[in-house]
Amino acid sequence: MLPGRDAERARIDRLLASARAGSGGGLLVLGEPGIGKTALLDDTAARADSFRVLRATGVELETELAYSGLFELLRPVAAGVADLPPRQEAALRTAFAETPVRELDGFAVAAAVLTLLSEAAAVRPVLCLIDDTQWIDAASVAALAFTVRRVESERVAMVFAAREQDGTSDLPRGIPALPLPGLDGAAAREVLTAQAGQELPGPVASALLRAGGGNPLALRELVGSVGPEELRGRAPLAEPLPVGGEIAGIYRRKLAALPATTRAALLVLAVSERAGPEQLLPAITALTGDPSALDPAERDGLVRTTPSALTFRHPVLRSVVHQEATLSERKSAHRCVAANLPAGQAEMRAWHAALAAPGPDETVAAELARTADLARARGGRWAESRAFELAARLSTDAEPRAERTYLAAVAAFRAGRHSIAEQYLEAVLALTTDPLLRADAEHERARISLWRGRPEPPERLQRAADRVAAYDVERAAKLLAYPVVGLGASCRPAAALPYARRAWELIGRRAQPLVVSFKVAYILVMAGETVDGAQLTAAATEVAEGTDDVTALAMLGPVLGWLDRSADAERVLSRAVELCRADGDLWMLTNALTNAAEASRRAGRLDQALVQADEARALAEQLDEPVQLATAVAGLARVEADLGRGIDCRAHAEQVRRADPQPAAELEVTCAAALGTLALASGRYQDAVDELAPAVDSLADGGVTEPRTFAVEGDLAEALARCGQVEEAMRLVERLEAYGRPRKAASVLAVAARCRGLLASDGEFEACFGDALAAYGSVDAPLEQARTLLCLGERLRRQGRRSAARDHLRTAWTMFEQRGAAYWADRARSELRLTGETLQRRTDDPRRQLTPQELQIALLVADGARNTDVAISLFVSPKTVEAHLTRVYRKLGVASRTQLAAQLAHAAQRQA
Ligand SMILES: Nc1ncnc2c1ncn2[C@@H]1O[C@H](COP(=O)(O)OP(=O)(O)OP(=O)(O)O)[C@@H](O)[C@H]1O
Ligand SMILES: [Mg+2]
Repeated sequence: MLPGRDAERARIDRLLASARAGSGGGLLVLGEPGIGKTALLDDTAARADSFRVLRATGVELETELAYSGLFELLRPVAAGVADLPPRQEAALRTAFAETPVRELDGFAVAAAVLTLLSEAAAVRPVLCLIDDTQWIDAASVAALAFTVRRVESERVAMVFAAREQDGTSDLPRGIPALPLPGLDGAAAREVLTAQAGQELPGPVASALLRAGGGNPLALRELVGSVGPEELRGRAPLAEPLPVGGEIAGIYRRKLAALPATTRAALLVLAVSERAGPEQLLPAITALTGDPSALDPAERDGLVRTTPSALTFRHPVLRSVVHQEATLSERKSAHRCVAANLPAGQAEMRAWHAALAAPGPDETVAAELARTADLARARGGRWAESRAFELAARLSTDAEPRAERTYLAAVAAFRAGRHSIAEQYLEAVLALTTDPLLRADAEHERARISLWRGRPEPPERLQRAADRVAAYDVERAAKLLAYPVVGLGASCRPAAALPYARRAWELIGRRAQPLVVSFKVAYILVMAGETVDGAQLTAAATEVAEGTDDVTALAMLGPVLGWLDRSADAERVLSRAVELCRADGDLWMLTNALTNAAEASRRAGRLDQALVQADEARALAEQLDEPVQLATAVAGLARVEADLGRGIDCRAHAEQVRRADPQPAAELEVTCAAALGTLALASGRYQDAVDELAPAVDSLADGGVTEPRTFAVEGDLAEALARCGQVEEAMRLVERLEAYGRPRKAASVLAVAARCRGLLASDGEFEACFGDALAAYGSVDAPLEQARTLLCLGERLRRQGRRSAARDHLRTAWTMFEQRGAAYWADRARSELRLTGETLQRRTDDPRRQLTPQELQIALLVADGARNTDVAISLFVSPKTVEAHLTRVYRKLGVASRTQLAAQLAHAAQRQA
């Protein structure tokens, strides 16, 4: 029985009940030390009889071992690992250090955990209790945080407990919090009575309650710290009682009363609780010379012993033991632990030896650096960083110290600790004069700044590149590639061009290394240097397609699109997406999907574009990556503009602008393009001009000469033409033509011709629209083509040529309808009505009734994928796939995969 926690227990009961019924979830219990988090978890475990209970507890001061928490949690279901899909099995075995495999990505582990839990839950509901989450290793927390957001369709409940402002690991985000307040008066009194074994006299109870606040641990310890006479009220309470739950003070007094050897023995336990009694007892004996040194603490109930574990009565006690010891005492304790660990525990031994070292020691440092490599192979990036950092501090010479600090920085960045990574990099630059290592550190620093959406000043990178160029041209080129990308994202290719050209010269104008060439290609094309740009893009694409370089593939895709090579763009991007999925590289997957969505949008595959953009958005949200989230959401807004999903489009553009009042120019232009197209399609021409004109100006200012980069000029020209601003419109048209003609850029010329048609006299417009339509014969841009037909139909109708108008408008309407371009379809229909033909809005398209995720799953299943395959590639559990599929069946009124496939095929046929 747990007094005073009825509300919290009820909350947990609801979680368990819904998990039992098949919709899982999580809770994060938060509260100060001693408030009763562990007690609440114990209580939950005791009551969850229908569940299989898995538990893990973080331990303070534990040396960083990647995935140790996960290992503890999953041990009881470890047999299921053998039945996992091969990739996931390999990932988990690597994480648990069973098999050394190639480098591991954390998300592969997370996906494996999800499958393992869902398999176990198929037999019996699973309850995971994760205590002291603030001390669980970072890799495990990341995997569990991923898992808990994906158990919505599983019989899995996960309850985390954590001290909020403590500890080393980030707590899992995005799950409901359950804060534990202090106990109320009645419950607190109950704790006192139970602990004292008797009713306490009023004044004594009041004094203890005041001192303990509502903290049950403080209350219990206070009772124990007061003598029996005082408790009964027969003697006055001797000292002033510690106020406000000062538990540490109580423990400090208890410790002071113990013999010195016992305190030393407790320190051994404090630095290495998880080592287990068979290793700790020899270490204790070695340190104190007394095998029974721990006995007095055991008699006082400060430690508990079972055959398999030695633990403190409470984690607070461990902190106090540690704090009370001097540095040299702690080092001695670590030394004895290290000396008594078996050879099989090399990683732990290296840590203890490092923490024991009195000063720099190359042997110890090298040993620890080796464990860092192990941690990396297992995907424990934070563990790796910590090991390198300590190894750096223990290094005797400056160069290895700088090298290890650099490695610590790289790992910290990969672990998501960006400011720490930046600090380490500053340290590297202060430590070393080695030009190569300095260049690497500068490179890494540039990467982090860019990634945070705040690119470094180009001049700084230029200087860094100049310094290293004499030693290594590739490194110099790589450094120069940073301002190239940074300025590109700010839509300032003109400023980027000198860096891009210099970088390209440095690598001998070749397509390799890709990390340089694709960035150069991107800027060349954007800046309108089409000859070199197209040639380098082609060469780089050929190289990239022979590799698994997802970054290059994901970046080259859009550039191919700008060059009207849309089929190549889609191929390259879908390969990038596949590779990212296979490797569980979710970070890169969001980029690849965002770019793939834009390629699909341009090719008029709006359903697919929506699915891709929405998946990118969801992933970026889960990864908590603000820059990528903004990019994905801006892309999504553009797709929604084409689909005529006005409310969503505006909300998403607003989201991007709100997230950062000064978004990167690239994002701002994308949002303006979305809102501008939306306004244009719904006939709000002045609004369209207001959105698009500033975007077009900023592109021109930055030197974005290639109009296909954002493809906004045509929409602005049309909006201007429809507002009667003929001269401005014509200027834009001429600009497009001047650009497109020498380059034979079919899609640019087509847009220009359409706009010319809008501006042309009655006798000329047909020829202009005809030119545009002819150009669309060679470019895959069905929406643009349909818009041209719409413009043509409009003019014909106004001339009174109803029958000719009707043909074009009907074709346009069909093309819009099939692709779901709602606003444009509405316009075509209104025009048709004016010609005397009335059409019904189509509402029966199955795809319109589904959410993007449902649609995605439906398309994959219709394509023949099994639920497990779908689950693996989308990083969700098979049950989630099932749940979505059930909804899809219901919405579409089908009963089987075959029927589903038939329905979707039918819809697609109508689209073709
Ligand atoms: N509601 C309660 N009624 C009575 N005793 C309680 C209650 N909650 C906790 N306790 C007791 O108080 C002590 C401290 O609780 P517990 O260890 O659960 O705290 P905690 O929040 O887990 O602290 P920490 O952050 O240090 O792990 C334990 O001895 C526990 O049995
Ligand atoms: Mg606890």
